[in-house]
Amino acid sequence: MKKEFRDLLKERGRSELPAVLLASAECAPLSKTGGLADVVGTLPKALKKLGMDARVITPYHRVIKDKYADKVEHMFTFYARLGWRSEYVGIEKLVLDDMIVYLVDNEHYFGDKIYRGGDAELEQYAFFTRAVLDAIPNLDFRPEIIHCNDWHTAMIPMLGKTQYQGGMQEGLKYLLTIHNIAFQGKCGFDRVQDLLGVDSRYYTPEFMELDGCANFMKGGLVFADRINTVSPSYAEEIKMPYYAEGLQGILNARSAQLSGIINGIDKVVFNPSHDDNLPVRYDKGHLKGKALCKAALQEKMGLDIRPDVPLFAMVTRMTEQKGFDLVACVLDDLMNREDMQFMLLGTGDERFENFMRAAEYRYRGRLCSFIGYSEPLSHLVYAGADFLVMPSRFEPCGLSQMIAMRYGTLPIVRETGGLKDTVLPYNQFTGEGNGFSFANYDAWELRDAMRTAMDCYRKPEVMNGLIRSAMEADFGFDRSAEEYARLYLWML
Ligand code: ADP
Ligand code: GLC
Repeated sequence: MKKEFRDLLKERGRSELPAVLLASAECAPLSKTGGLADVVGTLPKALKKLGMDARVITPYHRVIKDKYADKVEHMFTFYARLGWRSEYVGIEKLVLDDMIVYLVDNEHYFGDKIYRGGDAELEQYAFFTRAVLDAIPNLDFRPEIIHCNDWHTAMIPMLGKTQYQGGMQEGLKYLLTIHNIAFQGKCGFDRVQDLLGVDSRYYTPEFMELDGCANFMKGGLVFADRINTVSPSYAEEIKMPYYAEGLQGILNARSAQLSGIINGIDKVVFNPSHDDNLPVRYDKGHLKGKALCKAALQEKMGLDIRPDVPLFAMVTRMTEQKGFDLVACVLDDLMNREDMQFMLLGTGDERFENFMRAAEYRYRGRLCSFIGYSEPLSHLVYAGADFLVMPSRFEPCGLSQMIAMRYGTLPIVRETGGLKDTVLPYNQFTGEGNGFSFANYDAWELRDAMRTAMDCYRKPEVMNGLIRSAMEADFGFDRSAEEYARLYLWML
């Protein structure tokens, strides 16, 4: 154990770092729709290296059952109260290589989609909240800290502290990590009463009321012992109305308990020199393999196989957050004037998907999209593209830009949240940088940044310098895990 942690433990009169249970709607590699899964699937492994016992509790989703049913061990069964309902809860245990995961089984709530949307999703995760809190005392593990993630698990601290008096849940410490404040879990208060039996005294602006709705995220922000988000910049941004989605009041009120810890990526899963998804592997000293990956990607996507043309790519959920409207605004202008290729791997908003399908028709051989979700293809895109476009309106942290850099693909980002904290923009005077950036949410600024990238592409010595520094940057999770370990210790 590091001396710093030994000293911190001594100060607190303890011999061990605390045991932590992470509660989350998704966890890679079991279930994933975005970066939340990556973080929850990577943090426990990195904490283990520090000597901590951190485990995960997550729903036993259909996708997990389909793949891991023969590997799980049944632990116990009980019935949880969800208002007037009495619902089956099965707790299963899955030991992955270096991580222990508890799975909450209920075919009715988790037999289908990870997120059902709307009111059905609210009920899904109200159930999960209740199941987690009721299961905690019976686990073969004694956590001291419950680390909740996003609105789906944000009610755990509130209920733990208000409905479990005398139980061990009341004495636990709760950390709430905000991965995305745009999703808050809102409904009428009668629904929260019906599902979770919340007392009407909590339906006030001091507690979980916001703009005439009950708000799960707000309940969590009020009751969690500590709050953090996934980059220092986003921790500052969400105190401002533009980014806070209405929660600036409570976030400013609790700013002393709010901090930012940048995520990392799994350097084993994302490693161009050991990646089974690539036709050829490479590292920063042998970039020939990257050129071969580019040709393989072009061939797979039906693009003209040309090594000399810059290939811009996006790997993304297609939502308002990710800035696709900026891309849509300048794509024709760029495609008509520049010798470039553009590709997208993503799924989401129908109007953006349709835009890409139509553009593909206009620029055959130069532009293409794969509308869907594909982990293996994403690795080939990170390896084969020259630039990753990520002009987010807001970005709590962002993992795609870090993964891209690890594969020597230069990110083009808007300076917001974690993008600002991880991408060092190219400086034409010193040659420093590991990507490109622009400040305002403005399509023409994006176009200029893409043009700067194309200029660099034509200067191999500049381009190679940027690729090298991108690949040398350390975005592993170890640094983040140390910060989490410090935060957990402060909470005790
Ligand atoms: P967010 O969580 O907001 O979607 P992040 O950048 O934090 O954004 O994480 C996105 C993660 O999901 C990355 O690992 C990225 O590679 C992956 N991803 C996003 N869309 C797709 C897709 N269509 N196919 C495969 N992987 C995807
Ligand atoms: C959210 C954010 C993303 C972040 C991820 C993991 O999905 O949109 O920026 O990287 O969570 O924390």
